[in-house]
Amino acid sequence: PFNVAVVLVLGYLLGSIPFGLVLTRFAGLGDLRSIGSGNIGATNVLRTGNKKLAAATLLLDALKATAAALIAQAVFGHNAGLLAGFAAFIGHLFPVWLGFKGGKGVATYIGTLLGVAPLMVLVFAAVWLSVAFITRYSSLSALIATLVIPVALWILRVEEAALVTAAMTVITYWRHKQNIQRLIAGTESKIGAKG
Ligand code: G3P
Repeated sequence: PFNVAVVLVLGYLLGSIPFGLVLTRFAGLGDLRSIGSGNIGATNVLRTGNKKLAAATLLLDALKATAAALIAQAVFGHNAGLLAGFAAFIGHLFPVWLGFKGGKGVATYIGTLLGVAPLMVLVFAAVWLSVAFITRYSSLSALIATLVIPVALWILRVEEAALVTAAMTVITYWRHKQNIQRLIAGTESKIGAKG
């Protein structure tokens, strides 16, 4: 129980660092939450027109979850890594520093995979890039990729990871409620568009 608490707090705190917000503020781009979708993630950083900053946001938001997972895994074993990654995902979604109003979790989802099931990052990337190439929607690409991951893990019989990522997928869908409504209405902004 103490170990579980340590893992959860470590994951949460690392996950709650809002790199998109921090980087855009330091770059003098104003408050990311008043740009585009208002989200604090890499997709919305891209709408500022700064590709490098968007890439850095994706990388850092992912790696904070990877770091949480790898540290927990090294100290407490494989399932602790999964739990820490999940906690980082939750920390990104509900950061205490931002009044619990955080992001949508796609980068921390990828970062968790990198820590606990690294080959799954290739599956995620292949699906994400394919859907993005065809549709130009970042949100739809993430929604389909996050659906494939727990299924793939289940087929490969990596059951704990399948269950934890399934929970992350359900939460990801819930966080993309507005994106899903915009996708259905045909008003979702495409990658490369500023709106
Ligand atoms: O990773 C978040 C992405 O799927 C959607 O972001 O800014 O278009 O709501 P955004």
